[in-house]
Amino acid sequence: MPRLTVNGKQIEVPAGTNLIEAARHAGVEVPHYCYHPSLSIAGQCRLCMVDIEKAPRPTIACNTVAADGMVVLTETDRVRETRCARRGSRSWSST
Ligand code: FES
Repeated sequence: MPRLTVNGKQIEVPAGTNLIEAARHAGVEVPHYCYHPSLSIAGQCRLCMVDIEKAPRPTIACNTVAADGMVVLTETDRVRETRCARRGSRSWSST
């Protein structure tokens, strides 16, 4: 069971859990559109972007599996910018 940190909260999730579901374990909702837990991963909308410490750029949470020691941030400036760019609006926020 990987142990990771989401927005500063340490959690442990079952192996194979993606970062949308891992964030839910931490009480964090990652915005998403094309993800549904009962369907295959489409990875098309790109709204579920999150930052992973030491990663060069944000990545999609729906198709990224939680790993031991991973540090995930869901509300960084570059994540917000990426989400806004995908929606075509600078005023959109997940809060
Ligand atoms: S929810 Fe659409 S790409 Fe992740």
